[in-house]
Order: sequence, then structure tokens, then C-alpha cells
Amino acid sequence: MSSSSSNQMWGGRFADAPDAIMEAINASIGFDKRLAAQDIAGSRAHAAMLAAQGIVTDSDASAIREGLLTVLSEIEGGTFQFSTALEDIHMNVEARLKEVIGDPAGRLHTGRSRNDQVATDFRLWVRDQLDAADAGLTALMRALVAQAEAGADWVMPGFTHLQTAQPVTWGHHMLAYVEMFGRDRDRVRDARKRMNESPLGAAALAGTGFPIDRHMTAEALGFDRPMANSLDAVSARDFALEFLSVASISAMHLSRLAEELVIWSSAQFRFVTLSDKFSTGSSIMPQKKNPDAAELIRAKIGRIFGANVALMMVMKGLPLAYSKDMQEDKEQVFDAADNWLLALAAMEGMAGDMKANVPALESAAAHGFSTATDLADWLVRETGLPFRDAHHVTGTLVARAEAKGCDLPDLTLEEMKAVHEAIDETVFDVLGVHNSVASRTSFGGTAPARVREQVASWKEALA
Ligand code: ARG
Repeated sequence: MSSSSSNQMWGGRFADAPDAIMEAINASIGFDKRLAAQDIAGSRAHAAMLAAQGIVTDSDASAIREGLLTVLSEIEGGTFQFSTALEDIHMNVEARLKEVIGDPAGRLHTGRSRNDQVATDFRLWVRDQLDAADAGLTALMRALVAQAEAGADWVMPGFTHLQTAQPVTWGHHMLAYVEMFGRDRDRVRDARKRMNESPLGAAALAGTGFPIDRHMTAEALGFDRPMANSLDAVSARDFALEFLSVASISAMHLSRLAEELVIWSSAQFRFVTLSDKFSTGSSIMPQKKNPDAAELIRAKIGRIFGANVALMMVMKGLPLAYSKDMQEDKEQVFDAADNWLLALAAMEGMAGDMKANVPALESAAAHGFSTATDLADWLVRETGLPFRDAHHVTGTLVARAEAKGCDLPDLTLEEMKAVHEAIDETVFDVLGVHNSVASRTSFGGTAPARVREQVASWKEALA
């Protein structure tokens, strides 16, 4: 399968061309074409710097910079012929540049290597994804804050172990997710700050003897500074791993909310109605309206966390500096980014559009002895019982109600007095779910007044 034509980029020492299988395993152009815009931006910055430093002439640099724009428009216009023989995006672009502008193209790669080039391109690409995730998280948080504002005082059951625990407000539940997505967004911003350093000019691994200006290229590409160690610059992929970790945690949060929407939209719960726009029907059961978007979001964590694990395994144990293993860093990151952003957008649409079934929420909140803690607290406050004893008395009352097949507020005062004689009719004030939530005014608590404060502060933060 060999032929005598060898690679035009590195073929100097080769007599034979690579085997077709070698070409297939070696080529990354099938996926790293997604780095085209970043690759061209990096090359244009590099060419401008080479001219500013007197390493290439101004006229060569202008030809290179112009020619690269032509190549970019061919790629964006879909007319560019990608070649597997040219391995990757870097060599595809450079080879085409040679066809477009001729000899000056050969000067572009001065003082640079594909090792710092790919590290630069990939950082730029991941940085764009972090910015997109920041925007996606912000939009989702806004949708959830709007839900919280509408339902600051709608009462619903709060669960532990998925068993009715205490009544909470809808707004409080929505804002719990706003807090989670807010931390995800903080992690995105933190990761962006840490990764925003330029590998360009690290060259193959050791730096270069050409008088390059790495600060100039760093600034042109929007980086805060050049990376301080050339070996680290071409070896590091922790920026991609951090992206995947942040994405994994956020996808985990998305999956929890998605799971709640699946449960809440079921006929057994009927807590919410999802809009038709984010549901599907069944081909056999005419009554069905399935929460497919929620189920798919719930599942996305699988591939996103999988990408995190896969890249961690690729990087584990690699000696410095570059190894070709590192070409296996991209596809999973691309896939994770696509799916994280899609899941954020789908959740924003679905959570924004869903309609809470307020009467169903309230009646569910009232069942399952959800105000038992309020009763125990009342006994402590009004009769001076120690909490442990109050807990026991309340437990007995719950057992009575359960035996009678009713809820706590349905017990008569006589039935209550039979268990603890100090109980009087004012106890009924705390057995209602609205009083229950209104009483939970501790900072961070579920009381509508507290929820409204949090809504106001989030609206300001997200304005
Ligand atoms: N396609 C390669 C990658 O994605 C580019 C870097 C190649 N470097 C090298 N020394 N062969 O990693």
C-alpha cells in the first residue's frame, strides 16, 4: 500500500508514504476541523508577531494573514477540500495557504510547532464553550427565578427519601436549583480564569531561539498572559479536564431537576404540566404525553461524565511533553460540550414553560403528616416539653391519625388531649400548610417572605 510520495510537511526523511491504515489511525482531520477558526486566528496572530519582531517581512506576513482569511472563508463556505493525508486541521490549513499564496506560506511555521499550535487552538475552543455555558446557565437561572417569583407562596410537599417531609414553597424549590446552577456558573468563570493563558510560542516543547514575542500573541488572542513554562504549555490538558469536570457537575444538577420533572409530570403526581413543545406522544398509546426532553437531559450526564473519565485515562501516566495520545483529547470534549449546551437550552425551555398545578401541589403538601414537625415544635414552644418528648407525643398522634385514616388536622381536640392534655385549640393554627411554611423564616428558610428576598437578590444578580 506504500507509494513513494511522502508527506509534504514532514516527508523530508521519509522514502515511503504511510500505509492506508496508518493514515486512518493517525488522522484527526475528521474531528479537529472544528478547530479551524481557532487555528486560523492563532496563525494570524503568530504571523503578525513574526513581522513585528522582524522574523519575517511585512509583505510575507500580510500575504499570510490575508491568505488565511481566504482559507477561513472557504472552510466556512463549505468549499474547502479536507484531506486525510494531511492529517489534521493545522496541516490542511497550511497546505491550502501554500496553494493560495505560494512561497510565503512556508514561513508561517517559524518558531512554532503543531504542539503549541494545537494546545492554543484547543484552549481557544474550550474557552468559547465556557462562555457559551455561562450564557446557557444564566438563561436557565433566569427561567427558574421567574418560576420562583410566580410561586413564592405556592405550597408543595418537601421530600426527604422521596417521602413527604415538610411543606415547602414552590419558589423555594426553584431557587434551590438556581443556587446549584449559580455555583456551576461560578465554576465556569473560575475555570475560564485559570485556563486563559497562551501556549503559543512554546514551540515543540523547549521554546525557540527566534526572538518571538509571546506576550504579543497572547494579547492578540485574548489570553491574560503566555504560559510560563514551555514544557507545561504543550503538555497540559487539565484545562480540558476542568471543563469536563465542571460540565459533569452541572450535568448532574441538570439530571436531578430532570428527574423531578419526570416524576412531577406523571399522572400519579400531577405537580406540573410540561408544555407540548417539550413533550412527545406515543405511537401506540393515544393518551401519552412523555417528558422525553427531561429523560434525555437526565441521561446526558452519562456521556459527559464518561468523557471526563476517558480523558483522565488518556492523560494518566503520559510523560512530558507531547505524546500523540493527546490527539485523543478532542472528540469527547466536543461531544460533552455539545450535549451540555443542548441540555442547558432544553432545560431552560422546559422549566420556563412548565405550568405548576397549584391545587395538586397544595393538597399533596397537606397529606402525609407533613406538619408533624410543626406540631412537635408547637408542643415545645407552648407547653415547654423537651423536643424529644414532643417528638414522641407527635409520633403517637400520627399513629392515631393513621389508624383513623385521616391527616393530623382532622383529629379532634379531644383525641389530641387524650395523648397530651396540655394541647389546646391553638394547635390547629400550626397544622395548616400555609402557616407551616410562613413560620419557617430562618435565613435560607422556605417562608414566602424569605423566598421573595432571594428572588429579588437573584434578579439583581442576573440583571
Ligand atoms: N493532530 C495533533 C493533535 O491533535 C496535532 C499535534 C501533532 N503533533 C505532533 N508532534 N505530531 O494532537
